[in-house]
Amino acid sequence: MRDTIPNRPDLPAEIARRRTFAIISHPDAGKTTLTEKFLLYGGAIQMAGQVRAKGEARRTRSDFMQMEKDRGISVSASAMSFDFGEFRFNLVDTPGHADFSEDTYRTLTAVDAAVMVIDGAKGVESQTQKLFEVCRLRDLPILTFCNKMDRESRDTFEIIDEIQENLAIDVTPASWPIGMGRDFLGCYDMLHDRLDLMDRADRNRVATSIRVEGLDDPELDRHIPAHLLEKLREEVELARGLLPVLDPQAVLEGHMTPIWFGSAINSFGVRELMEGVSTYAPEPQPQSAEPRQISPEEPKVSGFVFKVQANMDPRHRDRVAFVRLASGHFARGMKLTHVRSGKTMTVASPVLFLAADRELAEEAWAGDIIGIPNHGQLRIGDTLTEGEALRVTGIPSFAPELLQSVRANDPLKSKHLEKALMQFAEEGAAKVFKPLIGSGYIVGVVGQLQFEVLASRIGLEYGLPVRFEPTQFTSARWASGERRALDRFVESNRQHIAHDHDGDVVYLTRLQWDIDRVVRDCPEIALAATKEMQ
Ligand code: G4P
Repeated sequence: MRDTIPNRPDLPAEIARRRTFAIISHPDAGKTTLTEKFLLYGGAIQMAGQVRAKGEARRTRSDFMQMEKDRGISVSASAMSFDFGEFRFNLVDTPGHADFSEDTYRTLTAVDAAVMVIDGAKGVESQTQKLFEVCRLRDLPILTFCNKMDRESRDTFEIIDEIQENLAIDVTPASWPIGMGRDFLGCYDMLHDRLDLMDRADRNRVATSIRVEGLDDPELDRHIPAHLLEKLREEVELARGLLPVLDPQAVLEGHMTPIWFGSAINSFGVRELMEGVSTYAPEPQPQSAEPRQISPEEPKVSGFVFKVQANMDPRHRDRVAFVRLASGHFARGMKLTHVRSGKTMTVASPVLFLAADRELAEEAWAGDIIGIPNHGQLRIGDTLTEGEALRVTGIPSFAPELLQSVRANDPLKSKHLEKALMQFAEEGAAKVFKPLIGSGYIVGVVGQLQFEVLASRIGLEYGLPVRFEPTQFTSARWASGERRALDRFVESNRQHIAHDHDGDVVYLTRLQWDIDRVVRDCPEIALAATKEMQ
């Protein structure tokens, strides 16, 4: 374990023990199973399977999750806190489906590290690759878990090579698998010279560890058949010669990832991975903000909203803003300044997400994630402080890749529809544009599935059947420039202009040609594909 904390020796112990991270994976690689096992080891649940069971219960309470259930995908992100040894883990769940990449991106702004799960038979899949790229943009440290080793999987060197080549990151084995598929016995722990054997009889049991004195220890012969032991010795020797040794600093900088092999469903390799998170994932990191960076050890509390989830309970129409604390020690009942509006709010009933339940948060520290119920004041990107006018930066909103117009089936309900759309825009579930010409709204998303989710949610939460229809537009850019130039631009492009829910000018495009034309003909106007949430 690292006994010094780089550059910040004064970090309070409560902050230093926190590890806030996300699990990223391609659907089906085993993220849900691994999450369950984390909670099981963290003592947050008694039996694996409860996350799913509780998830179901929550979904019935909040019917919009019906889609999630039907399609077997995770649409919304949530956060879970639990202790592991002396550490406090905050695990932020990310939606795995490609259509929700924007939500995932924002979620990743709230963590200090990521665990990447890959399927041992499939290797690096498309969504893993995309999510990895997002982590790389932020230089997030990444720990890798190669799952499903109890099934036929690829050769270990091949898996490591594929990660190194596709993701351009150094890979160092923290453990080495012994056998595979039916013959999978467990792993040789390369960091602790330990033999970890898998118990196939009890899926919820922690693996048996046998301490050995290196690979020549005769103890190994008693547990591993000769042909597998010979292969293990050869492979580990080769790996030690060919692959880089674990360098904690390179892991922290995002240049190297340690890989553990295991089987989440059999609880195998999970404890070692969690020890890895404690040791190699960093404590809460400084947060970029304007006009100055925020350090976690600052005594005053600050935090930012990275996700808003509305209508978790349709009876109350409440919204929960997920806030990552960037600094200080928060206590329930604190008065915080909502920097965007300048107003003070008393945070009377914050929630901490302990496993799948919500509990009142009496206190929380930098690195923690708390939920603040509110009636719409809190938006993604908002900063909360004890008075200082700080604005957390780096939480983007992306230009949509698909645009459709939306209409209520009952034309008399258009006001209702407007309200629903504004709510989803604030929640970050979609972009909503009001075109200058014509009535109605255009909704922009990054993936087709989001239209279905929206239609289903508007129907369930607002009792409003709606239709999405194609438009001539395919993308949108935020337009900015000096006031008069912008007014002129708006006037001469009226059929392309809309306003987003913040009132900012948006240029709707049909083809790349439209964008090229503006760049060529209107040098005083800047078009942007992302906008900072504010
Ligand atoms: P996801 O959240 O990444 O989408 O994956 P999830 O955990 O739901 O796992 C996907 C499937 O892979 C599940 O099977 C799960 O049981 C299985 N799985 C997870 N870890 C392992 C493992 O270590 N070994 C093996 N052999 N299978 C594993 P399913 O049939 O889709 O669902 P279920 O009926 O088992 O719940």
